[in-house]
Amino acid sequence: MKLYVMTDIHLYSKRNWLADPYKWERKATQMQMRESEEIIREAFDIILNDTETDTVLITGDLTDNGEISSHEDLLKIFEEYTQKGLRILVTTSTHDYRELKKTKYSKVDQNKGLSYGYDENYEYKRFIPCAKREDLRAWYAPYGRDKAISEHVDSMSYTYDLDEKHRLIAINDDYIANEKNNHRGLNEEQLNWIIEQANVATQEGKKIVCFTHHPILTPSPIYKLIGSHDIIADNIRLANVLADNGINVIYTGHSHIHDIEYYKSENGNLLYDISTGALVGSPPLMRKVDYLEDGTIDVKTIVINDLSRFDLEGKTLPEYCREGFFGMIEDMVNEMSGDMVNFAIYANSISIRPWTVYQFWWIFKAVGIFLNKLTIGKVYKWCKKESRLTPDEVAPIKDEKVVPLILEMVEKLYAGNADITPDRAEFNIIMGTVAIIDDLISTLGINLKKLIGFESVKEIVEPLAYNNGIDDYNAIINPSEEPIKKPPLPSFKSNKGVGIIISLVLGIILASPILIPSALVLSLLIVLRGVFNPYKNYKKVLPPRVDKKKK
Ligand SMILES: [Fe+2]
Ligand SMILES: [Fe+2]
Repeated sequence: MKLYVMTDIHLYSKRNWLADPYKWERKATQMQMRESEEIIREAFDIILNDTETDTVLITGDLTDNGEISSHEDLLKIFEEYTQKGLRILVTTSTHDYRELKKTKYSKVDQNKGLSYGYDENYEYKRFIPCAKREDLRAWYAPYGRDKAISEHVDSMSYTYDLDEKHRLIAINDDYIANEKNNHRGLNEEQLNWIIEQANVATQEGKKIVCFTHHPILTPSPIYKLIGSHDIIADNIRLANVLADNGINVIYTGHSHIHDIEYYKSENGNLLYDISTGALVGSPPLMRKVDYLEDGTIDVKTIVINDLSRFDLEGKTLPEYCREGFFGMIEDMVNEMSGDMVNFAIYANSISIRPWTVYQFWWIFKAVGIFLNKLTIGKVYKWCKKESRLTPDEVAPIKDEKVVPLILEMVEKLYAGNADITPDRAEFNIIMGTVAIIDDLISTLGINLKKLIGFESVKEIVEPLAYNNGIDDYNAIINPSEEPIKKPPLPSFKSNKGVGIIISLVLGIILASPILIPSALVLSLLIVLRGVFNPYKNYKKVLPPRVDKKKK
């Protein structure tokens, strides 16, 4: 049995723009909002042209932010493709409606059930109405629940027979498990329903196909740090319950990270979490899975390479999407040592306000100049011993900048299959530097495990450099067997911690006659800059974003 899995399709209606959306600067979000409809149609066309299956599972976040206009457009597309022969099975999630009650993260517009639209200057100003959770119940019933074997009414979860051998358990996990931090998950009653449905399916001899929106297993260690509330609430308990009740493979989304992880329950059962990157993200992709007769699952990644309904000016769609997602980060880092207003425009997209940029521009600029000048050769000088590289081995890359290497790691965090392979000098330099940091932390007696839940910085950084686990793109998953473990990556050691601390302390003592007055002057400058800020009269509202090429 074959089927497609896609997630986070985030359709944003073109009706939410008062001006031509295609002229809008798109280096602002992770998602291709302007072209979301075209990308969805392109993906549906691929499935329609595939003679092996007509089924697609969509695991939530159907619209950008729950705009009624976006839902209307999407439902039309669903209807159109259903008539053409597609079988679309969905659940909705948190981006498909607006809560009407106040949560820690809700903005004023959210309390009113509104999302944003764009005005003639391409700034989001025009508020537009959003769906309420209850609206979704009837709208999306034709896409799974209408033909459900069983339904958990409250959560809109359902079971559905994909064919005579395979039963789908579609879980909607938008239940607010913790009001304070808006953490989503399942309630006890829903969890009992899932257990019951899994057992019924097993008794009836059906193989279980299961999906939910939020990740159950952390897609990358760093995600636990930056998005701990984005992982499903009570995830380890849930992983145990699912694995022990015959749900050994689950498809998830939400993180926009393309990744496959597995977990072994206390009773020795396995749970594979197959997380799929956003269809409208970077790169734009979905999965095709094949439930084979021998019980294994052949998982393949389908990257959407082209966009027949839109002129990509000679680029492939992944190149085009990459430009949207990482172009902003690249430009922002470049402008950090360049133009203040340009930097403020980019920084505004990651919630650093223009006023803050203007006030502390001299600090931003100093950091920017340092970062943009930093070469791999310079870092090598710090970690020569730890990296175990000879100057000859570093020579070909010594003048390369560090920033693109960091960006490569960020990019692969989302795209999957991080590939700074251990045979690359860059790998040794990254891990050599990390070894110094780890030695410094342990010399200082800092309990990292207690602080952030990790034994070392290495645990976080190593997977960002190289994926030594399951191939995130194409893999054969055996739900009852652990994957064959690859040999461990080379390890790096450092004993510079003591030396660094001694030099720091000595440095501070020796430089204190200069350092103390400088610190006083600096603090005074910070205070006074608020009063005598030369950029005080700069507009707090930024000029409209302009595509650099179009300037
Ligand atoms: Fe999403
Ligand atoms: Fe989400």
